[in-house]
Amino acid sequence: MNIKNAAADHPILKLLAERWSPYGFEDRSVPETDLRSLFEAARWAASSYNEQPWNYLVATRDDPREFERLLSCLAEANQAWAKAAPVLALGVASLRFAKNNQANRAAVHDLGLAGGNLSAEATSRGLSVHQMIGILPDKAREVYQIPAHYEAWTAMAIGYKADPATLPEALKERDLAPRQRRPLGKFVFTGQWGQPSPLVLRHDT
Ligand SMILES: Cc1cc2nc3c(=O)[nH]c(=O)nc-3n(C[C@H](O)[C@H](O)[C@H](O)COP(=O)(O)O)c2cc1C
Repeated sequence: MNIKNAAADHPILKLLAERWSPYGFEDRSVPETDLRSLFEAARWAASSYNEQPWNYLVATRDDPREFERLLSCLAEANQAWAKAAPVLALGVASLRFAKNNQANRAAVHDLGLAGGNLSAEATSRGLSVHQMIGILPDKAREVYQIPAHYEAWTAMAIGYKADPATLPEALKERDLAPRQRRPLGKFVFTGQWGQPSPLVLRHDT
């Protein structure tokens, strides 16, 4: 089993177990047909009132000028590794409902759901997605003329994960590190906050 696969305590979809966020990417373009399917998967996410508050700005390394513009909207620490990815995307949330201009409290939540769909679709196609909160939202607004009530929230590096053996030491170490998760009893409660639900303390037989 791949060291990065989830060491799940209970059975989950293979697709979910195999998803992880690499720091190293192969120097290989992603076919446009795959990219369209990734955004199509995002499109079919659930959203509060079906508002579909997600928007994406996307750039591929095949267009170096556009790629550099998008890269400039990432925090420096993320630029360092994300510049190797063949595709970058900025996730922009629409923060108000189109129909009444009221604040949409679920906007960022739903941008996240769309990102989850996109990541699952990517995994099924042998692609990897590394999401980033480390972006420069003000820079993104300036570079892309993002309108008021929309906000760049996260970015994604998309591509084929590299063989860690080919990476510089610091990245290799991160891409070989085992994936850690809190056990279910630490976040699934019954009766009172912090009280592990008996449901998750039982084991499958
Ligand atoms: C919304 C979000 C923001 C993230 N921001 C960053 C980031 O700015 N830089 C980074 O290196 N990783 C970032 N990550 C990746 C997480 O660190 C990673 O998902 C987490 O460590 C779990 O690892 P896994 O995705 O391989 O299971 C982000 C992930 C998510 C979902």
